[in-house]
Amino acid sequence: MKRTIIKLVVPAIISCVVLSVSSCDNSDHSHMDRYISHLMKKMTLEEKIGQLNLPVTGEIVTGQAQNSDVAKKICAGEVGGLFNLKGVSRIRELQELAVEQSRMGIPLLFGMDVIHGYKTVFPIPLGLSCTWDMDAIETSARIAATEASADGICWTFSPMVDVCRDPRWGRIAEGCGEDPFLGAAVAKAMVKGYQGRRMEDNREIMACVKHFALYGAPDAGRDYNTVDMSRQRMFNEYLMPYKAAVDAGAGSVMASFNEVDGIPATGNRWLMTEVLRKQWGFDGFVVSDYTGISEMIDHGMGDTTKVASLAINAGVDMDMVSEAYLSTLARSVREGKVSEKAIDRACRSILEAKYKLGLFADPYKYCSEERGERDIFTDENRRVARKIASECFVLLKNEGNVLPLERKGTIGIVGPLADSPANMAGTWSVAADLEKSVSLAEGIRSVAGDMVNVLTAKGCNLMSDPSYEVRATMFGRSLNRDGRSEDTLLKEALQIASESDVILAALGESSEMSGECSCRTDLTMPETQTRLLDALVDTGKPVVLVLFTGRPLVLTREHERVQAILNVWFGGTEAGLAIGDVLFGDVNPGGKLTTSFPKSTGQIPIHYNHKNTGRPLPDCAWFQKFRSNYLDVDNEPLYPFGYGLSYTTFQYGDIVLDKKTMDGTDEIQASIVVTNTGERDGHEVVQMYIRDLVGSVTRPVMELKGFEKVFLKAGESKTVYFRISPDLLRFYNYDLDYVYEPGDFSVMIGGNSRDLKKAVFTLL
Ligand code: BGC
Repeated sequence: MKRTIIKLVVPAIISCVVLSVSSCDNSDHSHMDRYISHLMKKMTLEEKIGQLNLPVTGEIVTGQAQNSDVAKKICAGEVGGLFNLKGVSRIRELQELAVEQSRMGIPLLFGMDVIHGYKTVFPIPLGLSCTWDMDAIETSARIAATEASADGICWTFSPMVDVCRDPRWGRIAEGCGEDPFLGAAVAKAMVKGYQGRRMEDNREIMACVKHFALYGAPDAGRDYNTVDMSRQRMFNEYLMPYKAAVDAGAGSVMASFNEVDGIPATGNRWLMTEVLRKQWGFDGFVVSDYTGISEMIDHGMGDTTKVASLAINAGVDMDMVSEAYLSTLARSVREGKVSEKAIDRACRSILEAKYKLGLFADPYKYCSEERGERDIFTDENRRVARKIASECFVLLKNEGNVLPLERKGTIGIVGPLADSPANMAGTWSVAADLEKSVSLAEGIRSVAGDMVNVLTAKGCNLMSDPSYEVRATMFGRSLNRDGRSEDTLLKEALQIASESDVILAALGESSEMSGECSCRTDLTMPETQTRLLDALVDTGKPVVLVLFTGRPLVLTREHERVQAILNVWFGGTEAGLAIGDVLFGDVNPGGKLTTSFPKSTGQIPIHYNHKNTGRPLPDCAWFQKFRSNYLDVDNEPLYPFGYGLSYTTFQYGDIVLDKKTMDGTDEIQASIVVTNTGERDGHEVVQMYIRDLVGSVTRPVMELKGFEKVFLKAGESKTVYFRISPDLLRFYNYDLDYVYEPGDFSVMIGGNSRDLKKAVFTLL
């Protein structure tokens, strides 16, 4: 009966919608306001609530769409968007239902987790951040947007910008590491890459900055766990990247699973309305995370009706998967628990996003069949992905210049990750055809050419415990566990080693050992891999550890024993080739760490921008009684933030300040001469840190405040300039005012956060 009524009303409503939007310019706000007001006047309360509903539809195939449950909901006006459905024909089919069969004819949003590329996969975000190359990062997002939009997607749940100092947390792989300043720069680059010129083009998609807020600081590094931090820390150390994404115009924000100040972010009005909308001026919409609204029941916030009203009143506009809005809000409005104004506000923000994306003007804007053929996984996209991957690798050690390798003799590639295409892309590569990635062995063979003989052996399984291996290789990332005994596998590896001139040990984590719900308490290498590595080193042959990982690991033992370590993260579909490019020296590695690598898991959380305490350990000291330190390990990380070697060397001159003092209207220029003192051309990331020596609240021992990636030919020198303005010295004081305070500051410049030149200036 209801369907009949719907059909009768459709033509009139649709024609009025299409007529009024045909000449729209999606940057014209007054037109948008009028258009949406006009539309909303015709909507029932239930239809408005329908716009707030975001079900997941990953598994629907073409042809089934018409009969699915979700199709019925779409026709009834109970769906605002869908996610994890890909392919133009499927998406068109559901979009047609929304536009032609629902009473209001409002198009749907189609979202997906396009996190580090679509079919062409780029390095995991933690790796990408190690490029320190904002143009490359923006390009990766642009290509991801081009490919996703060619497959029907108009909205990505990215960038993920959660600052994280705890590598036990598996999702550290998805973010930019431990620094808010760098995180802010990356957030901006990603939003620009996805959204381009305000989502006008059909290659530009809407970004969703996540997970707002503080998701990267769960207690004990365990996913979804409680977060508790001071407002001081929140504003000074964690919120900056989200704000940068908002300032860059991100169209949407995703609420995090964790609580903030004792109230889950999803129901936290202070966070979603006071901070995000009022203080930061965010004018997009907020979506919950997957079942984030109904999870508030387990948080102990009430039943479905209660948590749905909490979320909508907090300012969460769209309900991902819970269907709590759909099932309770109309009644809550009637009972006076939720105002119709709150529903209108949320509905308007979602309709505005659709308007800005141009979906009212053309609901099939992202449904071009030809584009799919032309724009996805192209040679050019793959070429760019290879180049960017080669930029993100971090050379951690290179004793005796074992690297780069020469193109001659025999190379033995040994380890469970030596030849696994499915493990190259890394976590959250949902659209990728995993088997199309280039494995390490394949990449080395291809880059090495005919002059090199390449042998491979597994050497050991990922770990001894088969059930742990199952948990660590989910979602099609199996490493095909070898049923032979550990001794047999080792023997085979040693045979290969004896025939090789150099050994590449492909060890570390499988790609699913990081990412969502992949947390670890012990960050050392699995024992069976250590045993293999030791045996390889004991052969006396040169061994290069090609380290796959989605997080900082504890490599103290490996650092002592192995001559060279190249951290390759998970570099994406082209990583095998890119690793070859770096190992053979066609590309000089220039990646720098964006997270500290601890010496021991017990040092966590360890980060360079810590406070000093009242009992700091003097520089270079090991242990002192009644100082802030440990009995068994010193305070320093194994590899500090910003660290990474090159096949060449760089020398820094002294810092030159154009003046020693400035006032609030002035600025100081700091410069430094950097020289490539080696024999190869290379990139260096020049980093500037500042310390506020005396503050009204305690200040970190240093904070990154500028960086520049420079290319220097062998023997070349360049002067690198940084501008220090009073604004750069601002922080949130005790009252959370964003201020700078007069006084002395240290400025430190160098190639990592440990080896720095220093100077002092004064803000009058
Ligand atoms: C994750 C989000 C993701 C969402 C949708 C959640 O489990 O926390 O990051 O965007 O699922 O797939």
